[in-house]
Amino acid sequence: MANPNPVVAHADDYVRIFDTTLRDGEQSPGCTMNVEEKIAIARQLERLNVDIIEAGFAASSPGDFESVRRIAETLTNPVVLSLSRTRDEDVDAALRAVEKAKHPGIHIFIATSDIHLKYKLAMTREDVLNAATVAVMRAKRHLDYVEFSCEDASRSEWEFMAKICSEVIRAGARIINLPDTTGHALPAELGEMFAFMREHVEGADQVIWSAHCHNDLGMAVANSLAAIRNGARQVECTINGIGERAGNTSMEEVVMALKTRKDLMGVRCGIETRQIYPASRLLAQIIGQPVPPNKPIVGDNAFAHEAGIHQDGVLKNKLTYEIMKPEDIGIPSNKLVLGKHSGRHAFINRLQELGVDPATIDVQKAFAAFKDLCDKKKIVYDDDILAIANEETRRIADTFELVDVTVSSSTRTEPRAEVTLRVGGQERSAEASGDGMVDACYKAIYKIAELSPTLERYSVKSITGGTDALGEVSCLVRDNGMTVAGQGAHSDIVMASALALVNALNRLKSRGPAASPRPSEGP
Ligand code: KIV
Ligand code: ZN
Repeated sequence: MANPNPVVAHADDYVRIFDTTLRDGEQSPGCTMNVEEKIAIARQLERLNVDIIEAGFAASSPGDFESVRRIAETLTNPVVLSLSRTRDEDVDAALRAVEKAKHPGIHIFIATSDIHLKYKLAMTREDVLNAATVAVMRAKRHLDYVEFSCEDASRSEWEFMAKICSEVIRAGARIINLPDTTGHALPAELGEMFAFMREHVEGADQVIWSAHCHNDLGMAVANSLAAIRNGARQVECTINGIGERAGNTSMEEVVMALKTRKDLMGVRCGIETRQIYPASRLLAQIIGQPVPPNKPIVGDNAFAHEAGIHQDGVLKNKLTYEIMKPEDIGIPSNKLVLGKHSGRHAFINRLQELGVDPATIDVQKAFAAFKDLCDKKKIVYDDDILAIANEETRRIADTFELVDVTVSSSTRTEPRAEVTLRVGGQERSAEASGDGMVDACYKAIYKIAELSPTLERYSVKSITGGTDALGEVSCLVRDNGMTVAGQGAHSDIVMASALALVNALNRLKSRGPAASPRPSEGP
């Protein structure tokens, strides 16, 4: 398979942005996405102009394989790759999944720390060295773009890592990634590790060095910058910093740090920064995890000046307290958008400005929902529009469809709900009572779906102000070892709650049994 390697050939001051929102990010509880949602994110990543997209872990489940395959055939510009352990069957699945990509790649990893070798892999250093080299050679027979990672690099012995990296480079690896898998490293230490490896590995100057940091001690971005200062020219990161445990390096933070402090860092990347805010909001909507208000770059307060003295300064000259321009991140200057007189064209335009590709949703239905909302509230905000658009993305290929909810409650009677769902084309109804209207409604839904998952989290958020606001409900349900999130948006909170649960149950159905091995299981 020929591979033009678009991201290998770059000037020395270019830092490649490798996005792993759809793999490491998706791995964290409650961030599960269905194929259509992943494609919507992947398209937005392409608009962001990321260099590499890790689309999933093809061997982990048929669903993951399918997502990687679909993303690979959908995108044009970035390298699309799949994660893979060193096992033959993993490598083969990854290669098959990216076969149709314009720029296919594979990311092979194995742990190199003694802790992992002894307790997780039960392998000797010699075994690991051999497994890594054989896997890289196997992949290399089919494609050129092979990345190799030393899992738990920051707790591995540097001399052993230097040996294994020299071997995989000889076998053909083009990118060497040194992850801080446990988020244990401090910046100076991680920087030294990169410097050491670049000095001691044979062929070090023929490969791209990459950093992949986790945020357990809140150091992921600082560690990534330290790696860059010591020669790394690729950063692996996720939108909103989602990922295992405390998350991964946040893309928006590392990218804006490079841009804002170019004076010190002296490097550049290819990210279209005005797509950052739409990407952040799209992901937050899809996974139902709101962005904390104080989150750097994309939080609601990131550019809000509350103190009088600050407001005074900003009014006189923004430079007094603003180190970045909100418009550079794509934050709309005017959050107030459309209303009941807005036409379909204006609606589609706004969707595009917010990073939603109209081709990926049922525009007809979304526009009807928008008009419906306009009848209920005077002002429709960007977040309302995103909620409507994502409502459409979520509802593709559903097993269950909500048809009707009728609830009754008073101070003297027990709350009751009657719910109708369409299941495989047939309408089914059930009634239940509960502690409140939402509880009753959920019990009725469980009866129809013949499922009894545990509700691990339930939260309601008013997307925009006022009692007529669109409410968004996020829930996290666990069934048969798998945790999935669901979201629903509606101006009626019971309806939004029902939509969220139905969305979660559809995800449970679309994911099938929890077959995915975590990347850290086995060689
Ligand atoms: O954190 C990590 O080590 C990983 C590897 C699989 C690259 O995610
Ligand atoms: Zn990771």
